[in-house]
Amino acid sequence: MWPQRVTATVDLSALRHNLQRVREYAPASRVMGALKADAYGHGMVAVARALDDGLDAYAVACLEEAEAIRAAGCRTPCVLLEGPLHPQEIETIAARGEPVVLHADWQLQALRTLRCATPLPVWIKLDTGMNRLGFRPDQARRLAQAVSANPALKLLGWMTHLANADAAESAGTQAQLTRFFAATDGLPGARTIANSAGLMAYPQARVDWVRPGIMLYGASPLEGHTASQDGLLPTMRVESRLIAMRDVPAGEAVGYGSEWVCAEPTRVGVIAMGYGDGYPRHARSGTPVQVRGQTVALIGRVSMDMITVDLRNCPQAQVGDTAVLWGGGLPVESVAEHAGTIAYDLFCGLTNRVHYHYESET
Ligand SMILES: Cc1ncc(COP(=O)(O)O)c(C=O)c1O
Repeated sequence: MWPQRVTATVDLSALRHNLQRVREYAPASRVMGALKADAYGHGMVAVARALDDGLDAYAVACLEEAEAIRAAGCRTPCVLLEGPLHPQEIETIAARGEPVVLHADWQLQALRTLRCATPLPVWIKLDTGMNRLGFRPDQARRLAQAVSANPALKLLGWMTHLANADAAESAGTQAQLTRFFAATDGLPGARTIANSAGLMAYPQARVDWVRPGIMLYGASPLEGHTASQDGLLPTMRVESRLIAMRDVPAGEAVGYGSEWVCAEPTRVGVIAMGYGDGYPRHARSGTPVQVRGQTVALIGRVSMDMITVDLRNCPQAQVGDTAVLWGGGLPVESVAEHAGTIAYDLFCGLTNRVHYHYESET
């Protein structure tokens, strides 16, 4: 068997360590871990199995995701963050008994005709400033009454989502918190506010439930931070290999568009990883890559199957060497920053050409 071209190695013990960090931040809260989008590209079933006894709920985006988790034998409830996506789904969701987030009147209307033996557990989402999903906060009391009047529903509690928790001391976040607490004051049910950034940066947001995603996967949600500064362990390491090297004379260009011109004779390495694998096409020259543990710079444009790197500071490099694209000692946040994006996007963007491996110490 020859080595695989691009691999993503997911460290399940790092994942569990990161969940432990969540518990340290919010010891009194229950934890709904975001497993949507294939567990941020880490492999939803593997992540669900690794965290089944550690999380209080999984957060997913759709019924298909919940069903895949159930089919894998996991027992933790799957909260459907966007609720039913259309009325035809409601019967199936009710039969499965997965908790749903209700954010729009059409969902409440559609649920009026629901008949089920066990009431469907619902969270009600309030829009406290993100202007994406949710009811206006001044509707909370009306909604509490509507849910209690429908015997097919059981109110779990109240949810909101923070738009700016990654920015330190954001006035917008304070305003969202104030609106949410005012709107839900005295109402029955639990409360949940915080994503990873919210639970790390805003102690007031550590209420009955927290909803971390990115921090479980070992990337910092806070602007300008890397995982290690926050006591998180990188969970995914993406690797490929150096498949060619060439010495390019000064004045010659490298790659599509001849964008990168060598200022001096330059040993150029070619790595088998491109946007067809999920490497960000807009990564700029200078984006860090590791070859033989040495940080080198991406040069020229990213191609579908390859990138080129400057090996001038890595004279010992040889064809066949391992190249780390992110993870391990190379912070994903730094790669994302050079590509004008965020770690979430890099994780979710890996394509099905990447081979996954799972490591666990326990
Ligand atoms: C409603 C909701 N809660 C929690 C999360 C988790 O967010 P993060 O990955 O930033 O922790 C998300 C992710 O997008 C979300 O949409």
